[in-house]
Amino acid sequence: MHLLIPAAGSGKRMGADRNKLLLEVHSKPLIAWTLLAAEAANSISWIGIVSQPSDWEDFKSIIADLKLKKTIEFIAGGSTRQESVYNGLQALPETAKQVLIHDGARCLATPSLFNACSEAVLDCSGLIAAISVKDTIKIVDNNGIITSTPDRQQLWAAQTPQGFDVKLLKQCHAEGVRQGWEVTDDAALFEKCGIEVRIVPGEETNLKITTPQDLAIAEFILSHR
Ligand code: C5P
Repeated sequence: MHLLIPAAGSGKRMGADRNKLLLEVHSKPLIAWTLLAAEAANSISWIGIVSQPSDWEDFKSIIADLKLKKTIEFIAGGSTRQESVYNGLQALPETAKQVLIHDGARCLATPSLFNACSEAVLDCSGLIAAISVKDTIKIVDNNGIITSTPDRQQLWAAQTPQGFDVKLLKQCHAEGVRQGWEVTDDAALFEKCGIEVRIVPGEETNLKITTPQDLAIAEFILSHR
């Protein structure tokens, strides 16, 4: 299975002066944990890291330290996650029929989650790892007034990996560019194009590291593994 890792973000919400994926958690850069999980997942044979060329030197030295054996390619990132994934898709080898997309910032996903997604994507057009939400979620208008309360049983928190048929994902991204759609995950492009995306059970610990608090939680989880 081919895996694309969007890793071209900044450290803005983290309050960091560099790519948050280079920050240390449990004695390793955050991206190292993501890469170690991908390396340990038997189903993954090729990894494409989509990142800003200014970070490539740092990423390459991290990979050298980890002594990773899988093929790892570097692809230049875009100004949004959506653009970064678009760039990654253009760089996939012709042989890639399905692809997993996994945020570099989700450094706690386990190898077995990668393997489960790799297996399930062979039987469907698209999937995402997701967990059911524990909180009651409110829809709120611009004045801070609640407009509705969706039925919690139908609400799922989207995670990555997300897996897709490559041909369909390329078509959906191209349609997204044509229509000017701005989305925060790839499944949303499938939904807008009317193509089915299924849920596979995600992991409670598969957090997207966004804030300094998330980093502290990741430190705790990694130190208890
Ligand atoms: O910012 P956020 O954590 O939501 O981004 C999700 C993932 O997308 C991160 O792994 C980040 O590095 C990546 N990203 C990207 N290109 C961008 C912005 C974010 O690859 N321009």
